[in-house]
Amino acid sequence: MLENPHALRCLIAPSILTADLGRLAEQIQLAEAAGADRIHLDIMDGQFVPNISFGWLIVEAVRVATSLPLDVHLMIVKPERYVSDFARAGATHLTVHQETCPHLHRQIAQIKEVGATAGVALNPATSLTTVEDVIDDLDLLLIMSVNPGFGGQSFIRHSLDKLRRARAMFEARGSKADLEVDGGVNEATIASVVEAGATVCVTGSAVYNRTRSVADSVRALRAALDKPPT
Ligand code: DX5
Ligand code: ZN
Repeated sequence: MLENPHALRCLIAPSILTADLGRLAEQIQLAEAAGADRIHLDIMDGQFVPNISFGWLIVEAVRVATSLPLDVHLMIVKPERYVSDFARAGATHLTVHQETCPHLHRQIAQIKEVGATAGVALNPATSLTTVEDVIDDLDLLLIMSVNPGFGGQSFIRHSLDKLRRARAMFEARGSKADLEVDGGVNEATIASVVEAGATVCVTGSAVYNRTRSVADSVRALRAALDKPPT
């Protein structure tokens, strides 16, 4: 089959938040076999976000189950206390929230020191200007397209404009960092986020759901990238 030259490209990073954690290794391997590029792990502390998920022991278990890069999203206060634990557990990419880091420049340096790539996430209400002065130090910028804390929420449409502005900021500064989007990315929204400039798409309930297999879900996301965005 000839490849569609207009097809949009991005990395797909399934989030295990809505996976069947009783069969964790199998769920991860299904995503890997389906062609996922990274595994996204949502760490929630019940303080920065109203939900509690899991800690670095689960990251360690996922590290054993796959050779894919592990994209660890820290939704926790004072992330500097745990960065080295998560790196030791096998995180490849570590992302902290701007809202939790009064010393963001120092936080980015600490992540790099422990051998992970450094990402910063912005809540929907947090302005891009808050990372303008660290853009050159970032390996990844994560634009939250839902308020963090839960899987299965609806995509906030304004995030498309924010992604476009982030892409323009990267271009103006010559940044080669990943531009990641997280929350409500599914078959209906994936083409528009990639068209707006996202290079990594986190997909939770669009991949781990009870309505179809992981393989069919990843296939449907890739197919949606072959069609023009709606
Ligand atoms: C939300 C998490 C997301 C979540 C995405 O706080 O950061 O990674 O798992 O789930 P969906 O894709 O279902 O919105
Ligand atoms: Zn996430």
